[in-house]
Amino acid sequence: MKSSAGRLTYASLSVLCSLFTPVVLVKENDFKKCHQSGFCKRNRAYADHAVAQSTWQSPYKILSGEASSLKQGQFEATILKTVDEQGSTSGTARVTVDEEKRKTQSIDLRHDSKARKERYNEAEKWAVVGGLALDPDAKITHEDKKGVTVKYGPEGAFEAVIKFDPFAIDFKRGGDIQIKFNDRGLMNMEHWRPKIDKPEPEKKKRPKKGGRRSPRGRGEEGRGGGAQEGRSPSSPGRKHMPSISHSLNTSTYMVFLSTLAPLSLKETRGGEGNYEEPYRLYNADVFEYVLDSPMTLYGAIPFMQAQRKDSTVGVFWLNGAETWIDVAKVKQTKNPLSLGGSSKTNTHTHWISESGLMDVFVFLGPTPKDISKAYGELTGTTAMPAEFSLGYHQCRWNYVSDDDVKEVDRKMDKFNIPYDVIWLDIEYTHEKKYFTWDPDMFKDPISMGKQLDDHGRKLVTIIDPHIKNVDNYPVISEMKSKGHAVKNKDGNDFDGWCWPGSSMWIDAFSPAAIKWWTSLFKYDYFKGTMENTYVWNDMNEPSVFNGPEVTMPKDNLHYGGWEHRDVHNINGMTFHNATWEALVSRKKGEMRRPFVLTRSFFAGSQRLGAMWTGDNQASWDHLGAAVPMILAQGIAGFPFSGADVGGFFGNPEIELQTRWYQAGAFYPFFRGHAHIDARRREPYMASEPHRSIITAALRLRYSLMPSWYTAFFHANRDGSPIIRPMYWTHPGEESGFAVDDQFFVGSTGLLVKPIVEKDKFDTDVYIPDDEHYYDYFTYHKLSTHKGKSVSVTAPIETIPVLMRGGHIFPRRDIPRRSTQLMKFDDYTLVVVIGKDGSARGELYVDDGDSFEFEKGQFIHRVFEYKQLLLTSEAASKVESKTKEGDWMKKFHNVSYDKIIMVGAPSSWEGKTEVPVTSEGKTHNVKLDFYKAEGGRAAFAVLGRLGVRVGADWEVDFA
Ligand code: NOJ
Repeated sequence: MKSSAGRLTYASLSVLCSLFTPVVLVKENDFKKCHQSGFCKRNRAYADHAVAQSTWQSPYKILSGEASSLKQGQFEATILKTVDEQGSTSGTARVTVDEEKRKTQSIDLRHDSKARKERYNEAEKWAVVGGLALDPDAKITHEDKKGVTVKYGPEGAFEAVIKFDPFAIDFKRGGDIQIKFNDRGLMNMEHWRPKIDKPEPEKKKRPKKGGRRSPRGRGEEGRGGGAQEGRSPSSPGRKHMPSISHSLNTSTYMVFLSTLAPLSLKETRGGEGNYEEPYRLYNADVFEYVLDSPMTLYGAIPFMQAQRKDSTVGVFWLNGAETWIDVAKVKQTKNPLSLGGSSKTNTHTHWISESGLMDVFVFLGPTPKDISKAYGELTGTTAMPAEFSLGYHQCRWNYVSDDDVKEVDRKMDKFNIPYDVIWLDIEYTHEKKYFTWDPDMFKDPISMGKQLDDHGRKLVTIIDPHIKNVDNYPVISEMKSKGHAVKNKDGNDFDGWCWPGSSMWIDAFSPAAIKWWTSLFKYDYFKGTMENTYVWNDMNEPSVFNGPEVTMPKDNLHYGGWEHRDVHNINGMTFHNATWEALVSRKKGEMRRPFVLTRSFFAGSQRLGAMWTGDNQASWDHLGAAVPMILAQGIAGFPFSGADVGGFFGNPEIELQTRWYQAGAFYPFFRGHAHIDARRREPYMASEPHRSIITAALRLRYSLMPSWYTAFFHANRDGSPIIRPMYWTHPGEESGFAVDDQFFVGSTGLLVKPIVEKDKFDTDVYIPDDEHYYDYFTYHKLSTHKGKSVSVTAPIETIPVLMRGGHIFPRRDIPRRSTQLMKFDDYTLVVVIGKDGSARGELYVDDGDSFEFEKGQFIHRVFEYKQLLLTSEAASKVESKTKEGDWMKKFHNVSYDKIIMVGAPSSWEGKTEVPVTSEGKTHNVKLDFYKAEGGRAAFAVLGRLGVRVGADWEVDFA
């Protein structure tokens, strides 16, 4: 969709100037507060001013005479700026506001030494991949001088009621208002103003090269930029800020993403238990982050979901600049005097960005699944992962030599501990020069890679975006000579401080720079890497130790002449993207799925790999905070996420480490990591019984791998979260909306609540429905009640995992060293019979490595147990017609080792076999029945089944 040009008649408003208030520097205050950010402060003040006046009238209006009619699902009109509102076929509406394009001098599309003056309008290029088809059935159902009503969406169930004066839109579903856009008149588009030069303050001394590492590993001198810094030299010469408020017509619950806040958002305008500050999105290397805070972190996904009973709505604010969001809940009593007059709560949100377009997508649900799907269509879904990446990753800063890596690999085998990947942090390089190896410590990386390969394992090496600025390093000389570095405001290569000392940053917004970057990963360039080498992108916010707020000055320039301020939150994604491109094109014809972990991210990063929650601490609080953060990532459409198991900073006591492995076994991305100053803590280092308990948690992860892979498949197909909060699975159960310490794994029905407290050996698990729930390990049936919690014992060797009735999930139970070695193992199916005597489930499997699945080389089965008949069918007709390629041929005879029927009817007592029919033949299979005993449910085990996974079959229990 394109914005149309419009008239610029800006109404000037009295806004307050930004006052400079000194702050006490504590950790949290290393980063800006709203009052220190001019545009945030002005807009908060604007909002307060508007709300305080009963007669407030928004200065924005559509000129009714000029409102054009709806064309093919797109409504364009001229207001004070330009507005177009459209419905798309996915039922998503988009409102874009730009200002009249000013005449710009011709722009050098590489780097202009002058910043472009128009609003940044390329966020869509990075974030959006689809879902923009206009809704041809959208139609105007009402039109007069005051406004226009457009019907759109599935079966015309959605309406946008556009009011001209003042400009506002009510979004309705089923006749009820769900979202009010600009109803409080806070919309404000600041226009460009020339920079008023202030005298430059005295320059800070630049850090000395090779600054000593602090106990936390940072160059002490290098870590200069706090909240106060960068404001003067890099303060905006223009203000381009869009700001808008929405009122979400929702009662209680809201989800906001990639923050340190609980899943159910707190309000931000003060009051008991609330925050004083707005949520901030400004990707930053937040060193030792505090929990339960609205402050920013490494990534930004400006997408919010709000939930009330049986109704979900969402708002996506497509803007890559620094953004603040105020959230307030306001009670509205309908009629306090009349009996039965009910009060409801409206949640107001106010979005303020420093620059860029106002570009808002409105999702009307009605279910969380609908919203995840529509948002996935728009920004893309999780890439189908390389299967090994769902296994356990062993990382630390640092494994010191190739021999060290080989030794860890051997020890993991010696102690029968499965893992898939070992990681190398920055010390493997020669003096922090990426694409090189320390010549003394990593003398023979190929033999290291080969040993790993022999065990079906992989290596991940870190590659950061800062390139050491020294002589005799081809990467920096090429980057400079080819013009691929980010520029400073004068158009010269920007030089800053990071791990290597003086460094420059690749400008991954530039297509030519991306192309150059891909050349560095070719096997004959990055010597020592092999097909089993993958990559970790860190520090890509970007982290600049001596920059304002530990990042780049906002007036740095990127490809296209855009200022860094315009694109800051997108920056990390562009680097992740360049590395993804590099891995997918390492060798002609290789076509294997990349794996790239990123620290910084934006909407759309889910298409490129995994993220983790950065530098957490080895504390119980940080263990507890991880699950809500990972759940929030899933809701934000980026579910391939995890937290450093064990905690990055510090040394976890053994109970904490053990509980962290038990929790980590249920993170979509499962990696143990530790700071350079932390003691060694590979799982085999633990003493007994903890070593065995940690090993059991790892084995549990590996046995459930087919279920994890199937959950990733769903995330890939329709944007569903991989671990799912209660409100997502049960949007009608208000009592579960705020529960963010337990989750379901995909659609397996496995309900997990990790223990995150010291000396805690039981826990209460919230039960969202009337189904049966069984203990995963013992098959004990729990006495549960919908909307209430059930107490579950959890001694140190136990993870609270329940099985919900009505589900069937696959496992592979033969213990192996790595996922690759399990590729052709037989399966176990667990059927958890539901209250109504039925169950359903799925298995998706492909080669886990190539893109052949896109050509139909996969198996996707749907299992159903109903009226005593268990069946397996292809999920789609197309599937059975696909000609078998190499992997499918090898997989052809993979079968089921056993089927476990939990909650088996007592009438099966005495049954010793059941008939199984597949591919035109029937044979009997042994059945062992175990009657209910001491709280444990009855169950039956069938085995071996002797039917192919890829074939249709049925088992008749009648
Ligand atoms: C910061 C990352 O968050 C951490 O995981 C890593 O170990 C260090 N950088 C060193 O590369």
